[in-house]
Amino acid sequence: MATQPTNPKSVYDFVVKDAKGNDVDLAAYNGKVLLIVNVASKCGMTNSNYTELNQLYEKYKDKGLEILAFPCNQFGEEETGTNDQITEFVCTRFKSEFPIFDKIEVNGENAAPLYKFLKTGKWGIIGDDIQWNFAKFLVDKNGQAVDRYYPTTSPLSLERDLKKLLGI
Ligand SMILES: *[C@@H]1O[C@H](CO)[C@@H](O)[C@H](O)[C@H]1NC(C)=O
Repeated sequence: MATQPTNPKSVYDFVVKDAKGNDVDLAAYNGKVLLIVNVASKCGMTNSNYTELNQLYEKYKDKGLEILAFPCNQFGEEETGTNDQITEFVCTRFKSEFPIFDKIEVNGENAAPLYKFLKTGKWGIIGDDIQWNFAKFLVDKNGQAVDRYYPTTSPLSLERDLKKLLGI
């Protein structure tokens, strides 16, 4: 288990695990604009959030955007029963271009330290807890979470805010 910062100042202070269990130092993303998303670990892949995230990534990765996706299954399975096989099928065929990390928890005592940090912003009516899959955080080029959006906010509707942070 990677050691975690006691008094983190930015997301660059965190080390997370990739899908293979290797440490990834988020300092590697210094200077990038980050879109951090919790995704359904089993297969939210049929969800159009994925399509739109890929579209954003395609469009802005060369301009300094990175999307970091963290699977989390604290929000139940979006597809159950007989849909499972279909979902699985769609899932294995789906390819995301952006990194998908190791599964984490985003709420409660065992929440990943990164998520504890992201949630400490002044999020007003959004509240502290992550509501569902596909909550979205925009992190500026200094590693600060500056915007947070509900799961229901479509990735493409963040484009304006994203461009502002990218300075384009
Ligand atoms: C993204 O996912 C959330 C949670 O499942 C859903 O409420 C929302 O409608 C999705 N948005 C899009 C654009 O698919």
